[in-house]
Amino acid sequence: MGSVDRLVSVEDFRQLARRRLPGSIFEFVDGGAGQELTLAANRADFERIRLIPRVLTDVSRPDLSTSLWSQSFATPLVISPMGSCALVRPGADIAIARAAAARGIPYTLSTMSTTGIERMAKAVEGPLWFQLYVLKDFDFNRQLVQRAQEAGYSTLVVTVDLQAGGKREKDLRNGISIPLRPSARHLLEGILHPAWSLRLLRGGLPQFENVRGYLGDTSAGLTIAARVGANLHAGFDWDDFRRIRDWWKGRLVVKGVLHAGDAASLVAASADGIWLSNHGGRQLDGAISSIDALPAIRHALGADVPILIDSGIRTGMDVIKAGASGARAAAIGRAALFGAVAGEAGVTRVLEILLEEIANGLKLAGTPAFSRIGPDLIA
Ligand SMILES: Cc1cc2nc3c(=O)[nH]c(=O)nc-3n(C[C@H](O)[C@H](O)[C@H](O)COP(=O)(O)O)c2cc1C
Repeated sequence: MGSVDRLVSVEDFRQLARRRLPGSIFEFVDGGAGQELTLAANRADFERIRLIPRVLTDVSRPDLSTSLWSQSFATPLVISPMGSCALVRPGADIAIARAAAARGIPYTLSTMSTTGIERMAKAVEGPLWFQLYVLKDFDFNRQLVQRAQEAGYSTLVVTVDLQAGGKREKDLRNGISIPLRPSARHLLEGILHPAWSLRLLRGGLPQFENVRGYLGDTSAGLTIAARVGANLHAGFDWDDFRRIRDWWKGRLVVKGVLHAGDAASLVAASADGIWLSNHGGRQLDGAISSIDALPAIRHALGADVPILIDSGIRTGMDVIKAGASGARAAAIGRAALFGAVAGEAGVTRVLEILLEEIANGLKLAGTPAFSRIGPDLIA
């Protein structure tokens, strides 16, 4: 039995990450913006939901499959885009993508990934989606989209909740930036976490491969969030959205939506799906949780538009609650990255835990198929 097989929950992996990572890296992943009100709500609002199980429904073969745009997926999980993954472990994003591919789970590569668009496409055989942060330079945005299209990414995810970088107080205190600029404190943390440090030294300092050359290298002392923030297109508006929609011929999903009116307007502007997210509590502190925003958005869009959700999903029961509230798929961010602390085997174990929890939860709720659960499951 490998060491990760003994871990039985995503929270166990979070504790593993807390032990194995330097404190400032753990806090970069685990933390949120401002007073972390939204970060806390993301958990509290899932925890508050109670279910009313059904009985005598023959749950001998639970069906976890879901459909998005008449395509069937074996599970209702998706991997959320995450930048800077290599801070956790070199190749963490490849580890996550490979573990996801083995289960047919779509992997969303971030604009700010530490593995570039083309390198990821070569490393993984599975459904790949590309997430775009809209930067000030539209020639550059267009190049990114074109690279993703040429490399075979099937779906474009446009993130719209990063008009500026969130105020991540832990990162400000910890002096976290990428490329890493080691301070005396980081060196001490590194000495106290030799396995992490050796891997980082062997893997090379993490880089934002997709934007190398564009972001420049002049911002010593700026945190990651501020560094990205300075290059973001805060003027992003509906005309810009239509322009990007025109560039991309495939499926386009908009991530970071919480308002029902926005969701409806985006679908009217030819978005193919809406991805509810508050960025895992890392952006607007005080924002509503995605799970609380979901019923109104499902109501506004009707049953046919695919809705994805992330922010706070840590258990299979959260996925079931999201499904019952109207989501077709649930995306995980930190859960996958905590798994990646133990490499691909760790991510595989995290996915196995979540999928077992979903299967078991469907059985105990007396609901044989994920695709058929609805609001009547919720008390
Ligand atoms: C370390 C880290 C990096 C992230 N980077 C991005 C990113 O580059 N693009 C993006 O759209 N969202 C990014 N996010 C937000 C995630 O896509 C997702 O919305 C969030 O993690 C979901 O919440 P959860 O971590 O509670 O599952 C990041 C989140 C984390 C934890």
